[in-house]
This record gives sequence, C-alpha cells and structure tokens, in this order.
Amino acid sequence: MRVYKTKNYEEMSRKAAHIIASQVTLNPDCVLGLATGSTPVGTYKNLIEWYEKGDLDFSGVTSCNLDEYKGLSPENDQSYRYFMNHNLFDHVNIDKTHTYVPNGLEPDSEKACGQYEEIIRAQGGIDLQLLGLGHNGHIGFNEPADEFPKATHCVDLTDSTIQANKRFFENESDVPRQAYTMGIGTIMSAKKILVVVSGTDKAEILNKVINGPITPQVPASILQLHPDVTIVADEDALSKTKL
Ligand code: F6R
Repeated sequence: MRVYKTKNYEEMSRKAAHIIASQVTLNPDCVLGLATGSTPVGTYKNLIEWYEKGDLDFSGVTSCNLDEYKGLSPENDQSYRYFMNHNLFDHVNIDKTHTYVPNGLEPDSEKACGQYEEIIRAQGGIDLQLLGLGHNGHIGFNEPADEFPKATHCVDLTDSTIQANKRFFENESDVPRQAYTMGIGTIMSAKKILVVVSGTDKAEILNKVINGPITPQVPASILQLHPDVTIVADEDALSKTKL
C-alpha cells in the first residue's frame, strides 16, 4: 500500500485527481471505477476544472460505478446515477453511453448483478478503481460481515443506513431498503485501486484498514492484499495511523 498524507481535504482532492488524470492521459481508453459519497466530490471538481482548461480528454474513457440503490430511477436525485451525472459526467466530454451504474430499476437482483459483472468483464476489467471509506470500513455497500462477498450482489441496507439516509427523502418509506454493489472480489480485480479518505471521524477505521488484521469485519482491510493500492488521506484521517 502506498499512502500519501495531505494537509487537508483540498490537497487530498488535488492529489487524487492527479492520479486519475495521469491514468486518463497515459491510457485515454481506460476503464475507471468510480464512487459516490462526499469524499470524491472535490476530486471530481478538479477533474472538471482541468477538462475545462483543455488539459484532460474523457472522450475515450469508460466508467463503472461501485453501487446503486435498488428501486431508484436515474432521474431520482438520490440515485447514484443522478449523483454521477451531476458531479462529473454532465461537465466533461465522457460518452454517457460508456458510463455504467448497476441498474437500480431491474427488480430481479440476480439478473441485475449478473449483468453488471458481465458489463465489467466486457470492458476488459477496471484499470483504476476509486473508493471512499465508510466509518465501519465498508467499501461500496460491502458492510462488515462474516465473509467477503465476491461478486456484484444485492444488499439489505442496515437500519442505521436507512435512518441516516431518510433526511434526503420526503418519507422514511421512500428510502430504498436494498442496493446493488460490486463485491469485494469485483473491487479486488481492478488493476489499480485509489482510496480517498478525509477527516478525524475516519482516523480510527483508517488505522485498522492499514495496520489491522485482514478481516471481513473491516471490509477495506482486504486491500492490504492488493498489489497496487494508493491511499490518499489528509492529516486528520491519518492522525491515528503509524506509517
Ligand atoms: C460510494 C460508496 C460508499 C462510500 C462510503 C464513504 O459509492 O460506495 O462506500 O464511498 O460510504 O462515503 P463518504 O465519502 O460520503 O464518507
């Protein structure tokens, strides 16, 4: 694992964007694995800025997102498709038909997940996977469990996630109960992995991810076994980690 410590969130975002930009520049037809959540927003902002300056070209890039709520349409402003359009795709010259997110509107979970694995395979796999880190060590929607889920699968959202998400919806009953997510095996198959982490609230879990035992109770700890992982984290997030 390569760990870059940055002064703050802005520097973390710039550094991560540089890594993604190098990937796109060196391999204009690359496949990027992308994430939603608050952490990568600054990274996407930098990429948009550099695209607007003429320094980056996304026309050959394909993307596959980590996850999507089951039951939400792309037009729903809480869907991860909507998030990606709003925070990146609408602002750069990526071909939207080459941007993939699990199909939240497919009610048949097995079909949705099988199709998504097939899409990733058909692109030749993911060259660079961007990840955020959950407070409990989750990546994608892979929550602490007794084993590492391998492929894209359907997860039942925990009560705490439903409670945390309900503020974004009109009624609690509108909050999706399930989501489709790449599995740990899908994520580990990416050629390179880039993890962005910011804030003291992630300090404890980040230390466990980097220095703790590899266990499905801390899903991101498996990244210790990947041959090409870069973590870009700010001082606050690394405040409990001995490097
Ligand atoms: C996002 C995702 C999640 C987030 C994680 C961290 O597609 O799958 O695993 O990366 O929950 O979220 P933030 O960045 O909001 O702290």
